[in-house]
Amino acid sequence: MREQWGTRAGFILAAVGSAIGLGNIWRFPAVAYENGGGAFFIPYLFALLTAGIPLLILEFTIGHKYRGSAPLSYARMNRKAEWIGWWAVFVSFVISTYYAVIIAWAMSYSVFAINQTWGEDTEGFLFGDYLNLAEVPGQVGSFVPGVLIPLIIVWVVTLGVLFRGVQKGIEWANRIFIPTLVVLFLIIVIRAVTLPGAVDGLQAFFEPNFETITSGSVWVAAYGQIFFSLSIAFAIMITYSSYLPKKSDITNNAFITGFSNSSFELLAGIGVFAALGFMAMQAGVGVSEVVAGGIGLAFVVFPMIINEFPALNGLFGFLFFASLVLAGLSSLISISETYVKGISEKFGISRAKAVTIGGGIAALISLVFATQGGLFFLDAADYFINQFGVAFIGLVQVIAIAWIMRKLNVFQDHANGISDIRLGLWWKVCLGVITPVVLGYMMFDLFRTNLL
Ligand code: PHE
Ligand code: NA
Repeated sequence: MREQWGTRAGFILAAVGSAIGLGNIWRFPAVAYENGGGAFFIPYLFALLTAGIPLLILEFTIGHKYRGSAPLSYARMNRKAEWIGWWAVFVSFVISTYYAVIIAWAMSYSVFAINQTWGEDTEGFLFGDYLNLAEVPGQVGSFVPGVLIPLIIVWVVTLGVLFRGVQKGIEWANRIFIPTLVVLFLIIVIRAVTLPGAVDGLQAFFEPNFETITSGSVWVAAYGQIFFSLSIAFAIMITYSSYLPKKSDITNNAFITGFSNSSFELLAGIGVFAALGFMAMQAGVGVSEVVAGGIGLAFVVFPMIINEFPALNGLFGFLFFASLVLAGLSSLISISETYVKGISEKFGISRAKAVTIGGGIAALISLVFATQGGLFFLDAADYFINQFGVAFIGLVQVIAIAWIMRKLNVFQDHANGISDIRLGLWWKVCLGVITPVVLGYMMFDLFRTNLL
């Protein structure tokens, strides 16, 4: 019999755990700020409601109906479509190799935070003392022990969880990680908004710049954020929903997952910008001068902020990096499950073997990022995947389903047969028309800016 979630909450926690990740904490605040601040919420909500949640419903329906990992589900839909599933699995595999490394950094930093080992020059510490970067990518030197050890821990935890299976592993881990994460993060946000200068930060974050929303790139940013943040088009949500029991309100689950992820994102934006406002005030500069996203925000600016904290620096630093670790691990577990289940079903091997082979190879490859040249590779992989991987799979997926295989009516009936919320014409318009048009434009824009 197919493995199953123990409870409805177990599934929702796992889906939310996959969704909530580094993308919420360091990607969303910077993306929103750079793309119109308060005005960004218009394209963002549009993307959530017309693409994010409709696609979540679609992926939940596919997994639930065909009861297989992404490749198997697509194969059951149509033998010629199996490759779409494998492509998504491949993208997930690549992401897992470097996502693990960033969690490893956060793990080290949660220890460094206790007495601010990073010192005054946080940037110098990250690239020099900690990552030990070679000057040029060619000079890939030896392993950086500070990264290697936590990286091994990250993989042992992740593969250990996957080894134990859906209920005893994935569900159990998310039941612990996600509530803990929410509590830790609430503490951080409450502390951040009560810091001096927080109001300036929030003002900078929410101040709407309405002129931006007529620009195409802002809409591209909104869609990109929604796809990445909801883990859509990565084969994950299909795999997770394939473990749902027959009677499951998938449409309702999709709404809960989508809104929980966005709420957490908003919360993160508030916490991050309150802290940036505090930082700007300490430095006597404007908020715009301290804004950063990505690695720079988490591993350079936040250590600086923690250095300046009025009291209990170590504790708050620890809580921040521990939240990154928890958010990251629950996402890494979900990304890795796509290929574990994918190869286990394809080759008819046990979960244990699939974890050992698939997870083992991913872990070995990720060691490359723990060497002195690692950051260069990491940047390159991340750029490639985000630019060409996700939007492209999303586009292929909706066109194949809506226009080539013409499956939307079948899926609508499937979802409506088990859900309280009824899908209708609107859902099909979102998936068949609005989403392909916007994603098509995104691809066009990408090729134009990258290749011409
Ligand atoms: N959704 C996760 C985040 O916001 C990222 C992620 C992408 C996780 C793809 C799994 C797969 O960080
Ligand atoms: Na997310």
